[in-house]
Amino acid sequence: MSTTPDAQLPYYEDMSPGTGGLPPRAWTAGSDAARLGLGGDWAFRLSPTATAEDESFARPDYDASGWGTVAVPGHWVLQGHGAPIYTNVLYPFPVDPPRVPTENPTGDHRRVFDLPEDWPADGGAVLRFEGVESCARVWLNGQELGVFKGSRLPHEFAVGELLRPSGNVLAVRVHQWSSGTYLEDQDQWWLPGIFREVTLLHRPADAVTDFFVHASYDHASGEGTLRVDAEPGGRVTVPELGLDLATGESATVAVEPWTAETPRLYEATLATGGERVALRVGFRTVVVEDGVIKVNGERVLFRGVNRHEFHPETGRAVDLETMRQDLVLMKRHNINAVRTSHYPPHPAFLDLCDELGLWVIDECDLETHGFVDLGWRGNPVDDDRWTPALVDRARRMVERDKNHASVVMWSLGNECGTGRGLTAMADWIRERDPSRVIHYEGDMSCADTDVYSRMYAPHEEVDQIGQRTEAAWADAELDAKRRALPFILCEYAHAMGNGPGGLSDYQRLFETHERCQGGFVWEWIDHGIAKRTAEGELFYGYGGDFGEELHDGNFVCDGLLFPDRTPSPGLIEYKKVIEPVRIEGDGAAGTLRITNTHDFADLSHLTFSWAYEAEGVEVGGGELAVPPLAPGESADLKLPDRPATGTGGEALWTVRALLAADTAWAEAGHEVAWGQIPATTPTAPAASGGVLAPRREDGALVLGPGAFDPATGALLSLGGLAVTGPRLDVWRAPTDNDNGAPWQPDERYGLIWRTLGLHRLHHRVDAVEVADDALTVRTRVAPAATDVGLETVYRWTADTDADRLRLTVSVTPLGEWTCPLPRLGVRLGVPAALGRAEWFGGGPGEAYPDTHAASRIGRWALSVDEMQTPYVRPQENGARADVRWARLTDDGGAGIAVEGAPPFWFTARRWTTEQLDAAEHTPDLSPSADTVWVNLDHGQQGIGSQSCGPGVLPPYRLGAAPAEFSFAFSRI
Ligand code: GAL
Repeated sequence: MSTTPDAQLPYYEDMSPGTGGLPPRAWTAGSDAARLGLGGDWAFRLSPTATAEDESFARPDYDASGWGTVAVPGHWVLQGHGAPIYTNVLYPFPVDPPRVPTENPTGDHRRVFDLPEDWPADGGAVLRFEGVESCARVWLNGQELGVFKGSRLPHEFAVGELLRPSGNVLAVRVHQWSSGTYLEDQDQWWLPGIFREVTLLHRPADAVTDFFVHASYDHASGEGTLRVDAEPGGRVTVPELGLDLATGESATVAVEPWTAETPRLYEATLATGGERVALRVGFRTVVVEDGVIKVNGERVLFRGVNRHEFHPETGRAVDLETMRQDLVLMKRHNINAVRTSHYPPHPAFLDLCDELGLWVIDECDLETHGFVDLGWRGNPVDDDRWTPALVDRARRMVERDKNHASVVMWSLGNECGTGRGLTAMADWIRERDPSRVIHYEGDMSCADTDVYSRMYAPHEEVDQIGQRTEAAWADAELDAKRRALPFILCEYAHAMGNGPGGLSDYQRLFETHERCQGGFVWEWIDHGIAKRTAEGELFYGYGGDFGEELHDGNFVCDGLLFPDRTPSPGLIEYKKVIEPVRIEGDGAAGTLRITNTHDFADLSHLTFSWAYEAEGVEVGGGELAVPPLAPGESADLKLPDRPATGTGGEALWTVRALLAADTAWAEAGHEVAWGQIPATTPTAPAASGGVLAPRREDGALVLGPGAFDPATGALLSLGGLAVTGPRLDVWRAPTDNDNGAPWQPDERYGLIWRTLGLHRLHHRVDAVEVADDALTVRTRVAPAATDVGLETVYRWTADTDADRLRLTVSVTPLGEWTCPLPRLGVRLGVPAALGRAEWFGGGPGEAYPDTHAASRIGRWALSVDEMQTPYVRPQENGARADVRWARLTDDGGAGIAVEGAPPFWFTARRWTTEQLDAAEHTPDLSPSADTVWVNLDHGQQGIGSQSCGPGVLPPYRLGAAPAEFSFAFSRI
């Protein structure tokens, strides 16, 4: 190997995007030209370096019978060859662009195929790769076709002359690392392989090489204009519109426009001499006007998510069913927009977005984040030698995806700093497709973009941006330009672990300021990789679980879906926060206000129902007539007459908006929005006629149904049921958001709490006072090595006329507390047999002070096991909000009941908080054979989004302050 600095680099290290390929062009799902999928089991050999093996495997007569196999599409590291690596920002090798390490895992792939009998004899053929990470060199029948880079972009080679009727040998050498890797430093697993389809396409004479559908909509006239440019020319027919046009010719006709809410597509056909291509045309016009992004003349509000392609078993090889499942789940959760972070998705995904109705930011496969800690020294985005590779990526994205109605923005990439390469990409895109908005977040000057985009900006700043009063830029011209642009949060509300908190507060800003056109939650799905324990238990691995030299732990698990695509509480919360119908009312006045917050659809697609519930039990209900309000309109209605409840318990109205008819993504009856309106106010548990006096019995102190330890005042049993506690508890297993991100050091309370010692409190008993009407236990609860503490007084009483034991806890902070408390309440252990929970209060899922919107008041029943939220990295979870009463019972219905005043947070689990805190993965948690641990909390610290974003907003912080709260316990 040469040692001169300007040595010729091997193809996988040079900066070129590739050699030998065809120019990029439009993708299409269907045409009448023959195609042959080459997926399946391919022969496979892994080498530790790029040159460990010679290239003789590409020869047709090579004997690969001793090789292993991999499934294509697929990643070899998820199929038993090597291992995946997770890093967020870091390049997992020395940064020396464009060079990569000698240890460059290289997968040789080999597939032998025959042409189908009916494969046309005429014309040519193209071999198409939809995605290979990160660099491929390709041979067909021993002939080298070329090399390509650009992992999540298509690449094609002309192969017509090389094909034989049978025994074709396709050989592909894939290098994990290449110069292209420097442009693909996204926060995700490094997953080499041929992870999207490989297809052989017949190209008849006069086949469609490329086509560009221009379909705009003029909202003033209600007309759409269609022009299809194609190479070679031909005709376009749209039967439903009676159109039969030459390519290049325009026609303007009355149409129904395409929007994400009303995804109207027209079937069309493009026919050239040699091929017929099926098109689906959506008419819509996207502009930035008066500082606002408008589609078809209307401001749109993005209720979005960032979606990586991910499957826990197959990585970024995601099949069509899973893509559809993602979009159906999004639609069912009121999500209307996707940013394809951080690369163009599988092309079929965009077809599904057209069909189901999602606004799409299509992002280029470009990120150079690993240069940030080098002060952006050597950043390829600001180095002209890389510009051809960058523009090649922009072209491959735009040419492939230009015909999708759903794509409203092109994004240049993610986190690449700033530089001339980005300008070159933007210039190329603007020239080729001026019909869409250009997005890039990493350049705050917005030099190349049509929209001001940020990630994780705190609420306060978003409020200022909304008013266009944000801090000024030094450059007055750039400042004026940016201030006039519309604003989006391309990432916000980091959904890592429990959370994100603060969604409602963001939504309020988006609905207040015209400039704030919504955001995209980071991110859609946890990228946990399926693993099994020695005993065969399934769990999800994250960074560090695969022997990586450098890794970023569970930062890769920050989605609204768990890896198996079960919605997390964060998604349920998001659905409620962004619901496109607002339902409010005043129970006392008997009034109801319905507001349509769609951008385009009226309410005729919904029906409304009402229910009147007393103590969570429905005692009346029916349909509610709501006019088909236009977007933005409200109607004031009267609530129905109150049904008689019979019980006199707390009552409320629940009003729901449901789909009137089946859609492509949900059935009629699917709930889109809901609201609850209190009809009565909650009342404290009724006071009894009198109270009992504590008495001594067999060495214990007895008060009503409770037996206490006379020395410590601890409750030992309740009506004969052994219990542990209750005693003060302020600790919770820190959430990822409690722990916060290292680059946001101010309020990393998970660490502050641990340093303070809140997980190892000492409970000193100062007095056990027995009086005629109460047992009072005075304690001081404090961590070692500090003088702060919590004076805690437990006052026990028992009713004369009911078998109830009442506890009032008074807490007074001592010393200088400089942080909020994780929680404030009591912890109680009850026998493990009490595995069934029932409660009246918020549910069915967990809630915390700032993740509370989706918690609805009702009567809920779940097992203790079902009350757990299985965060990939175990952490605080499972609290139910606003609980008036709760019961824990065994299978026969015997157990314990708790009422609270004021309502409390109810948590029950089969392990202690300390065990939850210590666990790294879900199998680390083993249920106790003896005890169900119950937390009854007066307060909980909010969740926030500080794993990457703002912390807990002031109203949701649980400051250390004097507090008093009560519970009544009884046996059932
Ligand atoms: C952003 C980045 C994402 C992801 C996120 C944190 O900075 O664009 O790719 O890393 O932070 O999870």
